[in-house]
Amino acid sequence: MCGITGYVGNRPAVPTALMNLKRLEYRGYDSAGIAFPNCTRMQIVRATGKIANLERALDGRDTTARVAIAHTRWATHGRPSEANAHPHCDCSGRIAVVHNGIIENYAELRRDLMAEGHTFLSETDTEVVAHLIEREVAAAEQERASDALSPAEFARAARAAIGRLRGAYAIAVIAQQLPEFVFVARKDSPLVIGLGEGENFLASDIPAVMRFTRRVILLEDGDCALISAETVVATDARGCSVDREPLDITWDDAAAEKGGFDHFMLKEIHEGPRTVRDTLRGRLTDDGAVALPRLPFQPEDWARFRRVAIVGCGTAYHAGVVAKRLFEHLLRRPVEASVASEFRYSDPLVDSETLVVLISQSGETADTLAAMREARARGATTLAIVNVVGSTLARDADAALLTQAGPEIGVASTKAYLAQLTALSLLGLYLAQIEATGDDARSTARRAEIAEYVAALCELPAMIETCLAREPEIAALAEKLSRHSCFFFLGRGYDFAAALEAALKLKEISYIHAEAYPAGEMKHGPLALVEPGVAVVGFCTQPLTAEKMVSNLKEVKAREGTVVTVVREGDAVSDSADEVITVPATLDALMPIVSMVPMQLLSYYVAKARGCDIDQPRNLAKSVTVE
Ligand code: F6R
Repeated sequence: MCGITGYVGNRPAVPTALMNLKRLEYRGYDSAGIAFPNCTRMQIVRATGKIANLERALDGRDTTARVAIAHTRWATHGRPSEANAHPHCDCSGRIAVVHNGIIENYAELRRDLMAEGHTFLSETDTEVVAHLIEREVAAAEQERASDALSPAEFARAARAAIGRLRGAYAIAVIAQQLPEFVFVARKDSPLVIGLGEGENFLASDIPAVMRFTRRVILLEDGDCALISAETVVATDARGCSVDREPLDITWDDAAAEKGGFDHFMLKEIHEGPRTVRDTLRGRLTDDGAVALPRLPFQPEDWARFRRVAIVGCGTAYHAGVVAKRLFEHLLRRPVEASVASEFRYSDPLVDSETLVVLISQSGETADTLAAMREARARGATTLAIVNVVGSTLARDADAALLTQAGPEIGVASTKAYLAQLTALSLLGLYLAQIEATGDDARSTARRAEIAEYVAALCELPAMIETCLAREPEIAALAEKLSRHSCFFFLGRGYDFAAALEAALKLKEISYIHAEAYPAGEMKHGPLALVEPGVAVVGFCTQPLTAEKMVSNLKEVKAREGTVVTVVREGDAVSDSADEVITVPATLDALMPIVSMVPMQLLSYYVAKARGCDIDQPRNLAKSVTVE
């Protein structure tokens, strides 16, 4: 859960690595650091807090080095502190290491190294890597009785050290004696090499190098590479060379910047219409069907699946809760939606007759990856709904349906949720379609229903635009609500699934306690909490349960809570509502895509009114690559 960058070439390496590091701050930001060699010794500069603090710590230093590795941290082993910030060094101070991931056997390695006389200066798991490499380098030096380390020896020593590690890592290493090389290795944590002319970059993800290059190599699990300004030599863990084809990235560079908005989150909310349009693009036919030619399903494959399990974390899980209902309706098969961290340890009921759908924006969430592996080990077919091309999930699942949200930088997921719901709808319809090819009445009716969904999906971008046009009203409402101390989000059916996501959005960026409840459950306990100062947002977009919702909201009003209702255009508004948010009407299953847009705006403006750090909320990171 950290971010790594590195640079080797003719530019000043320190500012270049830092510039790219800023693009990774979403991965963690409790401390940051950088290592670069000068002519006498390895320079390590670290600071707690954000990268701006590190820049201040570098003021006045000689930063003319041509190689550097940098790190932004989200603490896992050892509290956030300067001593625990990366890079970490060996005893001699000649080898510097940055690492993203968790080294599971670090305690025993550390014990052995300490017994051999190595001195540790931090509480981190990472520091063992520097000492392990030091040990290997020392052994090589002893053999040839000199300290003139060659690049090949450096790579060999680093590979040998990494061979001792258990766990997940993306690692970059530099050595004082070789100021023109960076060694990197990855396993279960992302690492990208950006290729330049007479210079090369490395980073935890693609947007971090896009300012300088659009040609990248995505290292695979088990890969190592020795990088100089002119060359990238990729090998497997034993040093046998491996071929990794460079990819050309077509993303627009501006897509990774704020684009004139105050925050990435707001920019990304405004990208909702484009996101949905892009996710639908090329996947609908003129005659109202869904076309997913890249999915490896044949009708007979689908007939094999008796169950569907949907798995994800946070927002991705909430998208799965919506999909569960839609899939059960369309497919008439049991469908479970589970949180990945629970699924993997639940002895899950999955086998070769189960389709496991894993949802993830980043494609690197540790729990979701572990759930995928668990499902595969049990013989299930795994399908990823994932945003990041080249991510571990996209590559390791049996099939991937890419959401087309583009890079999402704000920690709070917004456009990715809309893209996930869109892709899940396509998947559900596609699977239903496989079974509805006959001339019988049921198949004919099902095809008509699918065509109705397809038409409704096409209207979504315009509906999201309508919601965005109401931003000033939502901002004014947010200003009033920002003084409330507690929020409930209530709904039934699809509205309850939307309520889950709305509550998460508000709490994570505004730090106001917010809880989602199935509306009918309020009187079974939580109603006791309602009093003046408590806001209750009731989603009333499902015709089947709209009247019941009205009664539930009356119960809240009677306890003097502030009632906000979300209603479809043209629907009656309950007289217990203090405030009303109106959204365009679409099919029940698609309502969460529409109703979430004002909820995202509401959360954004409440957080803004409270002066919160919207793009980087406290204690959170964008990509959770540890359990
Ligand atoms: C909330 C949020 C998180 C993520 C979760 C899964 O706004 O962003 O809850 O949804 O950490 O991340 P991905 O989708 O990358 O697997």
